[in-house]
Amino acid sequence: MAAARQAGYIGPMSRIVVVDAYAPDAAAVADAARVLRSGGLVALPTETVYGLGVRALDERAIARVFAAKGRPSHHPLIAHVLDEVQARRLAASWPEPASRLARAFWPGPLTLVVDRAHDVPAAISGGGDSIALRAPSHPVARAVIAALGEPVAAPSANRYQGLSPTTAQHVVKQLGSAVDLLLDAGACDAGIESTVVDVRGAIPRVLRPGAVGTAALRALLPDLEARVERAREGQRRASPGMEGRHYAPRAPLVLAGTGEEAHRIARQLASDGKRVGLMVRSSGETVPAQVLVRELPDEPAEYARALYRTLHDLDDMVCDAIVVQRVPSGDAWWAIADRLERACARP
Ligand code: TXA
Ligand code: MG
Repeated sequence: MAAARQAGYIGPMSRIVVVDAYAPDAAAVADAARVLRSGGLVALPTETVYGLGVRALDERAIARVFAAKGRPSHHPLIAHVLDEVQARRLAASWPEPASRLARAFWPGPLTLVVDRAHDVPAAISGGGDSIALRAPSHPVARAVIAALGEPVAAPSANRYQGLSPTTAQHVVKQLGSAVDLLLDAGACDAGIESTVVDVRGAIPRVLRPGAVGTAALRALLPDLEARVERAREGQRRASPGMEGRHYAPRAPLVLAGTGEEAHRIARQLASDGKRVGLMVRSSGETVPAQVLVRELPDEPAEYARALYRTLHDLDDMVCDAIVVQRVPSGDAWWAIADRLERACARP
């Protein structure tokens, strides 16, 4: 296949079907359900990022997801469900905060960690006894789960530690032929992953900041624990898979405190002969030709929508380094700051 030889592709492309994001074609949805039922991998859009879906109860298919991503098998996956009823079938217990959060935020970009039901294979949980559940709001994801009639396990559809995909092209770039079917419904709306909340303990705890801000969660659960869990080497963490480098472009990422500092670092790297990507929130300054400037929005939801797209874009331009102006501190920017920190962590 000629397309397989295009730069960045790792093999022949998977079958790609373009679907309407709001009214997906029934035949395409039925096709996706058939592929899932037979143990195949379907990349599909959600409102956060594209996911790499398989039947959640199919251990062999789950093993294929880990292999396709190159992800260690102890990193648990999220089971995507239609609603609270379907979620509860996968849970051994359903604490009161889970109901409260599900009723307020589902369908939507919130993932709840609860105890796993004993008849659900441990593979989805990376061998642990909890399970992460979320009811996505994207009409394509919902249609596929409904057609399958069962939950769909789906990590973000990228290689292990790579950048999450917010378009179908991003999926092709990283996973190529590893996917049996790719449903292309255009760009994802939120552009950043779901917020993960552990509701097993006495006090619910944010394990990963994401598209639902902690202020909105706190309005329902005032004691919610929400702070960054700092990686400590060798320690098993509450959310396996959150340690170290993650969400990273190929080019090394450098964080700069201010826009001015970002410009200064970019100019310095350019004078050393490097091709540099520069992501700032406002840029009036002139820069050398080797510096590719991308201006990002000053509003957190807009910034989140642009974040991975911009990093993918600069990576595709084969930058030697990407310099990013730090984002403000505070709840509204927390998920973005978290992803930027992880993207520049050492491998
Ligand atoms: O928005 C999203 O959440 C996207 C879309 C596709 O739904 N999915 C996603 O999946 O980001 P993934 O596998 O890339 O990240 C899942 C996160 C990881 O940080 C993982 O550690 C955490 O959820 N997680 C999954 N199962 C867990 C569990 N049983 N206990 C604690 N954390 C869990
Ligand atoms: Mg991921």
